Amino acid sequence: MEFVEDRWKALEIIGLYYKGPVKYAKAVLEKWPKSNGIVALIGGAAAGAEIFYKVDLLTPACVHYYIAVVPEHRNRGVATQIVQRVEKLCTAPVYMATTMEDNAAALRLFTKLGYTPHRWEDIPRRARDFLLKATCGYDDDVLFIKGADPREVAQRTNDVEKFWLETCLKPYLSL
Ligand SMILES: CC(C)(COP(=O)(O)OP(=O)(O)OC[C@H]1O[C@@H](n2cnc3c(N)ncnc32)[C@H](O)[C@@H]1OP(=O)(O)O)[C@@H](O)C(=O)NCCC(=O)NCCS
Repeated sequence: MEFVEDRWKALEIIGLYYKGPVKYAKAVLEKWPKSNGIVALIGGAAAGAEIFYKVDLLTPACVHYYIAVVPEHRNRGVATQIVQRVEKLCTAPVYMATTMEDNAAALRLFTKLGYTPHRWEDIPRRARDFLLKATCGYDDDVLFIKGADPREVAQRTNDVEKFWLETCLKPYLSL
């Protein structure tokens, strides 16, 4: 498998194979300089993609924002390799992702790579509000985090406020 850094091709793949709106992914790529996308290629054809970004919590964090694998390539380790590659490209003390509780593949993917799942409702409110802003994870139930406990890193920062305003709230309001 090969990887190429190509944010717009990554958005195209996500748009085709991720069920749900991709306006937030597009906003991150357009409005957040600390974002990027990679595409995994098998035999020269796209097999999957991820869009990710960095944001400063108490320490810098890398967020796996959108990941999707082309259906015929699923369950063969493609997403595992994509996440590992992104961790190398987007080195940070803390990594995060969010997902829905019923997404068994995503739950298994992040758990096996050392991420700890936390249901949003189990995280104390101040930390939860802050981490929801940092991940724009309002449509998901579970936060995955590696490298820290959610309470330890959740301290209001200007970076998170700016990220949330430009790439999460404004697209939500269709501004
Ligand atoms: C989630 C997704 C990216 C996983 O991609 P993938 O390439 O199939 O994942 P991998 O092959 O690397 O598998 C990762 C782990 O999940 C397991 N897994 C894969 N599909 C699974 C499924 N449908 N149910 C349960 N476990 C599953 C694998 O067995 C593997 O665990 P293991 O190594 O212990 O065997 C892919 O299913 C997808 O594109 N889904 C639609 C988009 C989406 O939901 N994105 C995630 C939003 S956070």
